[in-house]
Amino acid sequence: MKFETRYEQLRRRVDDYLRRFITEQKPVSVYRPIRYVLNSGGKRIRPVLTLLACEAVGGTTKDALHAAAGIEILHNFTLVHDDIMDNASSRRGRATVHTKWDDNVAILVGDELLALAYRALLRTTSERIQQIAKVFTEGVVEVCEGQGYDKEFETRNDVTVNDYLLMIRKKTGKMVSVAAEIGGLIGGGSQKEIRALRNYGYFVGRAFQLQDDLLDIVADEKKFGKAVGGDIVEGKRTVLLLEALRRARGRDRVCLQAVLQKRGVTKASIADVRGIYERTGVLESTRQRVVQDTARAQQAVLTLSPTPARAMLLWLTKILLHRTF
Ligand code: IPE
Ligand code: IPE
Ligand code: MG
Ligand code: MG
Ligand code: MG
Repeated sequence: MKFETRYEQLRRRVDDYLRRFITEQKPVSVYRPIRYVLNSGGKRIRPVLTLLACEAVGGTTKDALHAAAGIEILHNFTLVHDDIMDNASSRRGRATVHTKWDDNVAILVGDELLALAYRALLRTTSERIQQIAKVFTEGVVEVCEGQGYDKEFETRNDVTVNDYLLMIRKKTGKMVSVAAEIGGLIGGGSQKEIRALRNYGYFVGRAFQLQDDLLDIVADEKKFGKAVGGDIVEGKRTVLLLEALRRARGRDRVCLQAVLQKRGVTKASIADVRGIYERTGVLESTRQRVVQDTARAQQAVLTLSPTPARAMLLWLTKILLHRTF
């Protein structure tokens, strides 16, 4: 079967699960937005990784479906709260929960999604359920730490590229890693296999966030589903901004300083910043980082026994490398 077809199949299984999972209707103010979030599409990368990781060590996708859904629900919780924190008005091509409803609804919806994530995860039948719940919980803790750094950095002027790498490892790398690790745990993987999957997920996750930060400035808004330049407007300390600041001189430098201090940054400044990123070569150097992490992820997964699932995990890294949304 073609990899694309198989991906669509797995994604549909997750979507079907999520559609059936919520049976409650009231209060409408909670369940309408919850359905809105869970039925709004999304690439479903993390749950697909869980399913494939499980298969790659000899398990079945059926065994991992509850956990896969739990991970996707958790991801959706982080997005709903992230959009409040980032003042984002669109996601997946639609209005964000806090703009369509309001902040209070979005806070509550996020809270309940976190609980629902555990509801799904804990339906997993496995001798290792305790370990699975622990890995998942540590993932949640790290996402919150990563998001804390992300916000803290917005007002700090001493953020380094290493600080940035720590922040993205926590806010994104960790949960992608957890997604793969939990699949491996459910599939009965050995310690060595679990470690390989964890590393694979970590590098895929880091490449993924680097790419997201890159797409924030170069993406086609319609395809991306999010407003382009949001990171610029919010003064996010991405690797692009940090490295451009090191390299830029003269007027370019003055412009980036304004971004750093969130002074008079408007939609119009986004094109200027993009020009600076091009001129200073940070678009290219960030692409190279993505390429490097992709290679590291591939190395990690190649230590597993050759199976169709392993081939697909490998294919996925290449797809993500070229993603535009
Ligand atoms: C968005 O994640 C948040 C990041 C970690 C960059 P995705 O790009 O996986 O979002 P969806 O689920 O496909 O919408
Ligand atoms: C989000 O990073 C990471 C988490 C949700 C934990 P971003 O803030 O860059 O994600 P987007 O661009 O809004 O999807
Ligand atoms: Mg954010
Ligand atoms: Mg955001
Ligand atoms: Mg982003």
